[in-house]
Amino acid sequence: MLVENLYMSVDPYMRRSMDAVAKDLPPWPIGGPLDGPSIGRVIESRNTGYVSGDLVESMSGWQQHFISEGDEFIPYISANTAIAKRDASSKAAPEDFLGLLGIASQTAYFGLKKAGNMVPGETVVISSGAGAVGSVACQIAKIHGMRVVSSAGSDEKVAFLRDELGVDFAFNYKTTALSDGLAQGCPDGIDLVLENASPEHFAACLPLMNEMKTMLITGFISIYSTGGTVPNLANFEYALDRFLTIRAFAFMEFLDAFDQFVADMLKWRDAGKIQLPLQIHDGLEKAPDAFCSLFTGTSSGKQLVRIAS
Ligand SMILES: NC(=O)c1ccc[n+]([C@@H]2O[C@H](COP(=O)([O-])OP(=O)(O)OC[C@H]3O[C@@H](n4cnc5c(N)ncnc54)[C@H](OP(=O)(O)O)[C@@H]3O)[C@@H](O)[C@H]2O)c1
Repeated sequence: MLVENLYMSVDPYMRRSMDAVAKDLPPWPIGGPLDGPSIGRVIESRNTGYVSGDLVESMSGWQQHFISEGDEFIPYISANTAIAKRDASSKAAPEDFLGLLGIASQTAYFGLKKAGNMVPGETVVISSGAGAVGSVACQIAKIHGMRVVSSAGSDEKVAFLRDELGVDFAFNYKTTALSDGLAQGCPDGIDLVLENASPEHFAACLPLMNEMKTMLITGFISIYSTGGTVPNLANFEYALDRFLTIRAFAFMEFLDAFDQFVADMLKWRDAGKIQLPLQIHDGLEKAPDAFCSLFTGTSSGKQLVRIAS
């Protein structure tokens, strides 16, 4: 089938696709097409499972058109002919499949609900809180009655966390020392961490962890541009002293719960309990700028590129 892409997503993991070192990702081929999440429409199909007009999600972003055999879609793994049909008649707009229902939201949802354990009244710390994963995670944790503490890299983002997302305590990690901000926000200690940002933020949480609690790691965006090496972690002795569970996870582990995820996200959105602001960059030629904004802190919410209307 011939597919026209409507939107593509830019995501931090793509920086690792630019190196040969990531063990879980095939590197982007020099001189070849880049790949990544995209949503498009079938223009012409000789595959009996698809008709012209079908909405399809694929890993064939960074291009206006592509040809697919209709092989099974494997999210997050480059497979340029793989594809999955999405329900165009659902309450979701095409861009929602990369935004509110996309991989960042899945990471927040599956991380907190499946890899971790949300307990009402307990304190969760979420780094990169104004980012795509972080902002969805803050809202899901609030929906589940948790006390949410979060950090971000500007006063504007901190105000968004407090005023728009209802986070209980937020601080600017560029103007407040991590240990001070976390101590101020977590007077009763930390019960759960969702780490998106950096080894330094993760390490600063360790001394505040309550016993037998969990620290989830989605990734460390801060190391993706510096070779992916994690420096020696400060405070690691607290992992032993407090009997902590440290769990790195991938959203793909939990895709058997995808339908429940979609139902919950749309239900919460319709009830006004969750939002994921989209920053839409118009035109495929803007994709490099959109991608780089993830690493300069100029992004907030979810970055998408509109390729066609
Ligand atoms: N495990 C999985 O299945 C999975 C899936 C998707 C994403 N992830 C991971 O989840 C994390 C968040 O992803 P996302 O898509 O939501 O991205 P994101 O948080 O929206 O990423 C962009 C933001 O990261 C922050 N940032 C950039 N460089 C930084 C640095 N050196 N130190 C601290 N913060 C920095 C900036 O916000 P500030 O202005 O606040 O600094 C920037 O605006 C990433 O680590 C990503 O790799 C994991």
